[in-house]
Amino acid sequence: MARVDELGDGIYRISTTVALGEGAFQFNQFLIDDERPTLIHTGLFPMYEDVRKAVAEVLDPASLAYVVCPHFESDECGGMGRFVEEAPEAVLACSEAGALLNLTQWDYSGPVRGFRDGDTTDLGERKLRFIETPHVHHWDSMMVFEETTGSLFSSDLYIQWGDQPAIVRENLGSEMCLGYRESGIFAASEPVLRVVDRLEKLDPEWVHPMHGGSLPKEVVPSYTRALREEEFAFEGKIFGRMIPS
Ligand SMILES: [Fe+2]
Ligand SMILES: [Fe+2]
Repeated sequence: MARVDELGDGIYRISTTVALGEGAFQFNQFLIDDERPTLIHTGLFPMYEDVRKAVAEVLDPASLAYVVCPHFESDECGGMGRFVEEAPEAVLACSEAGALLNLTQWDYSGPVRGFRDGDTTDLGERKLRFIETPHVHHWDSMMVFEETTGSLFSSDLYIQWGDQPAIVRENLGSEMCLGYRESGIFAASEPVLRVVDRLEKLDPEWVHPMHGGSLPKEVVPSYTRALREEEFAFEGKIFGRMIPS
């Protein structure tokens, strides 16, 4: 079951926890309740009904204006076709590279709009800015920053493993890096650290990752430090399994 938490300023976290080995893992979507309601990530294809129900607790899913896909992966956009189909005004918002490489010219015929770094779009009271973050962790990756509330939606960066509360104040930076190494999510550290530097300058009030809980401003530096001081890039393992070299 998806759980809904209001994080304040019209931003809602929709979260589903699943078992992962002996632990747990969370998939989050974020909903911005504004004149042009926006859903950031959709969750996996089988989660659609549950996530839709959770969206409907806050607003009419048919009123969605944007479904944001930070990169083309099933937990980011597995429900995109159905969310966009139900909402007549909805557009799938991704990076320009994402539109070119992944979200057009295949078995999806809904509307897609690709954004470049620095592009903005008005949601009503709030404004989304697009940040291209190539290779964090896909070629087409981007993040979105809501300027009015200073909220960064960081996708797979700044995540925590396990079943976490909606807001996390604990320093789980080392565990984050360990999980990145075990899962093999980042091919290399350089593109990630380049983005980390940029995000530090952006100085968000909130970081809302798609796995784990949201991090308030004062908690973010401990995670940033872990990324700078610890290994987190690919060491030959995919989901804990060593690939022969
Ligand atoms: Fe991802
Ligand atoms: Fe993800």
